[in-house]
Amino acid sequence: MPAIVIVGAQWGDEGKGKATDLLGGRVDYVVKPNGGNNAGHTVVIGGEKYELKLLPAGILSPNAIPIIGNGCVVNLEALFEEIEGLEARGADTSKLRISANAHLVAPYHQILDKVTERFLGKRAIGTTGRGIGPAYMDKVARLGIRVQDVFDESILRQKVEGSLRQKNELLVKVYNRRNVLVEEVVEYFLAFADRLRPLVVDSTYVLNTALDEGKVVLMEGGQATFLDVDHGTYPFVTSSNPTAGGASVGSGIGPTRITRCVGIIKAYTTRVGAGPFPTELFDDMGIYLQKTGGEFGVNTGRPRRCGWYDSVLARHASRVNGFTDYFVTKLDVLTGLESIPVCVAYDVDGQRHDEMPMTQTDFHHATPIFEYFDGWTEDISGARSLADLPVNAQKYIEALERVSGTRISAIGVGPDREQTIVINDLITS
Ligand code: GDP
Ligand code: IMO
Ligand code: MG
Repeated sequence: MPAIVIVGAQWGDEGKGKATDLLGGRVDYVVKPNGGNNAGHTVVIGGEKYELKLLPAGILSPNAIPIIGNGCVVNLEALFEEIEGLEARGADTSKLRISANAHLVAPYHQILDKVTERFLGKRAIGTTGRGIGPAYMDKVARLGIRVQDVFDESILRQKVEGSLRQKNELLVKVYNRRNVLVEEVVEYFLAFADRLRPLVVDSTYVLNTALDEGKVVLMEGGQATFLDVDHGTYPFVTSSNPTAGGASVGSGIGPTRITRCVGIIKAYTTRVGAGPFPTELFDDMGIYLQKTGGEFGVNTGRPRRCGWYDSVLARHASRVNGFTDYFVTKLDVLTGLESIPVCVAYDVDGQRHDEMPMTQTDFHHATPIFEYFDGWTEDISGARSLADLPVNAQKYIEALERVSGTRISAIGVGPDREQTIVINDLITS
């Protein structure tokens, strides 16, 4: 009954989609435990590229049953658009199931996301604008609308009314926006009811029964450790818990059932949106990594900020998630560099910090202390074992393992599923 969690170890876009796809052929269920259509997971199969937003990337693994877990927030318009897009490309989406307890993103959540960012001005978070924060706010405030509510019109109307009473005051009086009509929102949700009904299940029951039967379940986390609302660089975070504990809550699979916890981590670091980033590069090298790594957001198209590998973050992520393995991606992007810096500690106002500073103020003041490693020039995109890598690339990986707190079990040397070096099997060993 293996239950494997895939977690982003940095600020997102580490290659969780590729990792999911790599394992997808050997798993029975792929559940997305958190987030919504703020994610963008890329899968490249035989040169063909797919970009998944709300749907788990596991939907492209023909034998796996994809599930949107209870911890997700679902935009129904985006859901059916994405399903149609995949179907048009010949993918089979018929096995998709959605938790009855997942929350819905309402049109007013998107409005609120945008106006809140505008009112924050210079302190804006740089959200994806998909209404994710406001939808999770409503969930925690107990004002949310859940997937199951769409099947009970009277309850749906009561809940929308309850949620809008306070929001309309805010929208009209504070944000100078138009009043949102209850009936419009109710009609919006009801329009999806017939298409939604056959997809909805008690996903916690389904997943736990599958584990009882010895099936393999993969939890494909969205976002990442440092975007976690508890463990990330708050307030520059998303509004869910993308860490391993969140995967347990967001899928209803108890922590004791999780057998592997795999951190996906780039061989350097990127970030989209605002917030501190100690190893960020502001010079030509940053642009070089952005271009060479194709570092442009899948979801919003924004250029990703780029910087060197940060082992302080890696060690912290190992701890917070209890990683059993690291999957280092995009090693190929570093090919051709003479020397590669790796951040091993921070300098905070003249003081060395080997681990994550306790306060946000200190983290904002952190500058990297680097160790330098010799680069390599050979093309590594065809490497399929550690021995295929040039000696300096092997040494770089050894160094990352030494400073990151968790063994490295896989290495990405290109975007395609096949372009992977597997050192330890991520399901069985
Ligand atoms: P996710 O959100 O964690 O799934 O990651 P994204 O899909 O947003 O971004 C990762 C990008 O890197 C995608 O374009 C992937 O196709 C690509 N990618 C993943 N692994 C590798 C790798 O090992 N090498 C290279 N060159 N690209 C990779
Ligand atoms: P995947 O799953 C990278 C970032 C946004 C913003 C912050 C809050 O592809 O790794 P939100 O819309 O969630 O309220 O935005 O979080 N963000 C991501 N950055 N990858 C993602 O997902 C992200 N999802 C959200 O850019 O800084
Ligand atoms: Mg992404």
